[in-house]
Amino acid sequence: MSVAADPVKLMKQEVGKAAAEMVKSGSIVGLGTGSTTAYTIQYLGERLKSGELKDIVGVPTSFQSEVLAKQYGVPLTTLDAIDHIDIAIDGADEVDAHKNLIKGGGAAHTREKVVDYLAAQFIVVVDSSKLVDRLGSSFAVPVEVIPMALTPVTNAIKELGGIPELRMGVKKAGPVITDQGNMVIDVRFDNISDPVNLEKTLNNIPGVLENGIFVNCADVVLIGEVIDGKPVVRRM
Ligand code: 5RP
Repeated sequence: MSVAADPVKLMKQEVGKAAAEMVKSGSIVGLGTGSTTAYTIQYLGERLKSGELKDIVGVPTSFQSEVLAKQYGVPLTTLDAIDHIDIAIDGADEVDAHKNLIKGGGAAHTREKVVDYLAAQFIVVVDSSKLVDRLGSSFAVPVEVIPMALTPVTNAIKELGGIPELRMGVKKAGPVITDQGNMVIDVRFDNISDPVNLEKTLNNIPGVLENGIFVNCADVVLIGEVIDGKPVVRRM
């Protein structure tokens, strides 16, 4: 594929593959959700098939990652059957200079947070367009809400100064329904100066299951870039 044709796809491929290279035989691996980690899962399957990688098991963060793992031959387990996760690899929608993240572009942030926070090493894979000076600059904060609490949660978010928008389905009439059977409100904030506090404040609203602000959890951010027409992977 030529870089000019689809540089974002190429960056995602390279960075997804670079993260898969970091997985060692015998590991329990958190499998993230999204188009970048799809390449990670694919490459993990290829490494297993070639015999270069052995005895790994994956913990999926969504129905999507479960389906991909099955497709590419990555064995799966559940949190009931293990007592730790060695490494988790996941994408993000925004990354700031402190490695704080906004996630949930695929509405999978609740399971992603459980798995990513449990991992001894959490690797984030992004293309360079995801880097921001301040969280919330380009992406709204996804908030998963149980359906019966949609109205009071929406009102509470407005009182906090957020602009809420119920996420709607594509090729499906009505709202997006998460893997847990809930809904997602995308919330725009003018200025997220204190992501640690905002994460807690949002989660304290009764009816909120989880929000997409991830703080103090990423160990390494791998960033895919195209420099002089060539894809490169840099480490933050
Ligand atoms: C899903 C996520 C994804 O990791 C995030 O949206 C990034 O996705 P992509 O790699 O497709 O850009 O948080 O809930």
